[in-house]
Amino acid sequence: MNQLKIAFFDAKEYDRQSFEAANVSGEFSIRFLETRLTPDTYKLAEGCDVVCVFVNDEIDSFVIDKLCSMGIRLIALRCAGYNNVDVEYAYGKIHVVRVPAYSPYAVAEHAMAMLLTSIRRIHKAYIRTKDFNFSLDGLTGFDLHGKTVGVIGTGKIGRIFIDICRGFGMNVIAYDKFPAADSGIEYVSLESLWSRSDIISLHCPLTDENRHMINAATIDQMKKGVVIINTSRGALIDTEALVDGIKSRKIGAACLDVYEEESNIFFHDYSNHIVNDDVLARLISMPNVIVTSHQAFLTNEALSNIADTTLANIREFFASDRCVNEVCYKCGKIADCKQLHDKKCF
Ligand code: NAI
Repeated sequence: MNQLKIAFFDAKEYDRQSFEAANVSGEFSIRFLETRLTPDTYKLAEGCDVVCVFVNDEIDSFVIDKLCSMGIRLIALRCAGYNNVDVEYAYGKIHVVRVPAYSPYAVAEHAMAMLLTSIRRIHKAYIRTKDFNFSLDGLTGFDLHGKTVGVIGTGKIGRIFIDICRGFGMNVIAYDKFPAADSGIEYVSLESLWSRSDIISLHCPLTDENRHMINAATIDQMKKGVVIINTSRGALIDTEALVDGIKSRKIGAACLDVYEEESNIFFHDYSNHIVNDDVLARLISMPNVIVTSHQAFLTNEALSNIADTTLANIREFFASDRCVNEVCYKCGKIADCKQLHDKKCF
């Protein structure tokens, strides 16, 4: 087989290092591109067989048509979520593969790191002691032991987060659209989860039906002082409603690794610029909000798994009729799907 050519969009230095290490034999020719894949940049993939993309690339119907017309046969996501790809439109035209798990531990541990940082005011204490300010005023936190955490989405990451929380002696309740049988998890309705949880952590994918699942109406049902953690996708939360909830003191703290308008901001250094996003600026100005820029996945283990699985997906797609990590809009609706799940979807 000829050497496969990969147009690698939104490439960062850490991507280059991990993919070069995974491709040390030179099996693939990888064109690293700093720009995201958008309707304005798709031409940079000319001559390639595959586009490799991440969470903020925009693969809409226009881009899909252009990629197909250039002879590109595969969109290889190097992430788990695929809400940025129009998978329904892609069906029958271009295949889409993803990395379903690279280190669920990385994301679950980051969620707990943010929670502990927030409620024990570590972010404040770090800055104070750097300035030789050893006062404790304003740093009072609360014990996690005995608190109730509501986990939304009990897949790979959600379950590890549940195990971590249990290690802290927390009571765990959960909501999942497809609850896991015999898991020992106490599943409750969303209404019950909103009203009973001291802490709510999101670990479900973003879909059309759960966009803005945390909104003014659901915040209204929550306990006063609730802590919200989002390491999943920004648009699960209506950010303006979140800001209002924090201003009214209903929400005690927010730990956000994702943000619904992150695509032009996160992963870039704007430290010498005026950021025009007033909602994000307001959030960052609040003492009880912690924002990290979609870094929950960023561990050495995860990067190496991402590179290995992405290249294995590409290799498998071009060498056989198997494609275990393919995603299509039918894969989420098992009843409609006529295909065996380790075969190509069309
Ligand atoms: P998973 O597929 O193992 O689990 C997702 C769970 O959510 C499943 O149990 C599923 O039944 C449930 N679910 C689906 N639709 C739902 C809905 N409408 N309401 C409630 N639950 C629903 O996925 P995994 O690996 O645990 O990842 C979860 C999410 O974490 C991903 O979709 C992605 O958005 C996010 N993520 C974030 C990363 C970061 O760096 N911040 C890195 C990796 C994933």
